[in-house]
Amino acid sequence: MINNPLEKTRNYIEENKDRFLNELFDLLRIPSVSADSKFKNDVQQAAGFVKESLIKAGADFAEICQTAGHPIVYAEKNISPELPTVLVYGHYDVQPADPYELWDNDPFSPVIKNERIYARGACDDKGQAYMHIKALEIMNDQGGAPCNLKFMIEGEEEVGSPNLAIFVKENTEKLKADLVLISDTGIISNEHPSITVGLRGLSYVEVEVTGPNRDLHSGIYGGAVANPINVLCDMIASLHDENKHITVPGFYDKVAELNAQEREALNKAPFDLEQYKSELDIDDIQGEKGFTTLERTGIRPSLDVNGIWGGYIGEGAKTVLPSKAYAKISMRLVPNQLSGEITELFQKHFESIAPDSVKVKVTPHHGGEGVVVPTDSVGYQAASQAFEDAWGKAPIPTRDGGSIPIVAMFQKVLGLDSILLGFGLDEDAIHSPNESYGVFNYFKGIETIVQFHHRFAALKK
Ligand code: BES
Ligand code: MN
Ligand code: MN
Repeated sequence: MINNPLEKTRNYIEENKDRFLNELFDLLRIPSVSADSKFKNDVQQAAGFVKESLIKAGADFAEICQTAGHPIVYAEKNISPELPTVLVYGHYDVQPADPYELWDNDPFSPVIKNERIYARGACDDKGQAYMHIKALEIMNDQGGAPCNLKFMIEGEEEVGSPNLAIFVKENTEKLKADLVLISDTGIISNEHPSITVGLRGLSYVEVEVTGPNRDLHSGIYGGAVANPINVLCDMIASLHDENKHITVPGFYDKVAELNAQEREALNKAPFDLEQYKSELDIDDIQGEKGFTTLERTGIRPSLDVNGIWGGYIGEGAKTVLPSKAYAKISMRLVPNQLSGEITELFQKHFESIAPDSVKVKVTPHHGGEGVVVPTDSVGYQAASQAFEDAWGKAPIPTRDGGSIPIVAMFQKVLGLDSILLGFGLDEDAIHSPNESYGVFNYFKGIETIVQFHHRFAALKK
């Protein structure tokens, strides 16, 4: 048995729950949007808040590491060199809150409604990262953590972690640990807790299609000169065939295929298609032929237009044949596909399908590789036990469709596996208006994290 009465943790959370919520609210009030330079000072302020919180929670030291972009907060709690070390990773930056008018409350003035915390970053990832800081406080109160802890909470995850990758490479000694622990993913539901064992990679590009050298009168020229928006739509439509297969040559060459047994296991996870559709208010789903919804997001790559613009979008009508059209396109990748290679394949293909009537330019943005987390590790076992302790249920391994590019870097540069101990739900609507995080998940997550450290330390003995 492990020397950690779960009851004590539960009591501590119960006695401090208002403060735990209020502290998180203070963090949620800081609009630390990493993508928008308008919020640069707020991002710095959020870093300062996280650093102070770590110190108050009992870290030996916490520091703000400035980078060429937004800072990284780093902290340590050293117990004994004999004990294993867990490196906790999270991010305090958030996605832009736009469009503001679709929020029921101000995205940076958190409120609780129906047992949920509404604010940008409530779940992704301030709420989830802050659970680790409260877990540290609790372990300190209970006579000290059962292992050494390192914290690395960054401010650029939502823009692809460009400077964290450099920081990791330059600090391999400092970041030495036995594994990385991350709460930045979700579970199936509160009835079916799960552990994420796969993340998709990402390749992101922006395309520009240029037709005539200036905007033209759509009556004088319409029908005779290629309209770059029409052409872009044709080109985008051709990127999928009738089976919703992506048509970029070579795109699937390296896709790791799962065998029948693995696919069966993946599809055993509870999934209710009717509920899925009704939650999204759609009458039907769409995706690659021959694969289930869980497979389409978990083990198959995808290609989506994230934004498309050009021409006149102001009030009323303007008769114009625009000179330019643009789109942002993301490709979610699966293990063995390499983001750099896929970006190149896309670029070559997209240029090749452009008619002579237009010119195209493809500009790559950030990317990252997919990951698979082994389930036969001590870390996974500890996570599984922690769920059983806190939730009274064994968790199901699942593959998530989202991306955390730095996880592959942890593996490559530090040789460390990550345990994706996330507690979000689909209904949290991360990146969307009215993002929220369940109060239950916030407190249950803290409990699970405390258990994880105890279980991991015990298994490592
Ligand atoms: N926390 C998410 C990733 C995530 C969410 C993984 C849910 C699994 C389940 C992360 O903050 C995120 O949004 N990542 C970006 C990638 C990044 C390069 C902008 C993403 O997936 O779009
Ligand atoms: Mn996140
Ligand atoms: Mn995110």
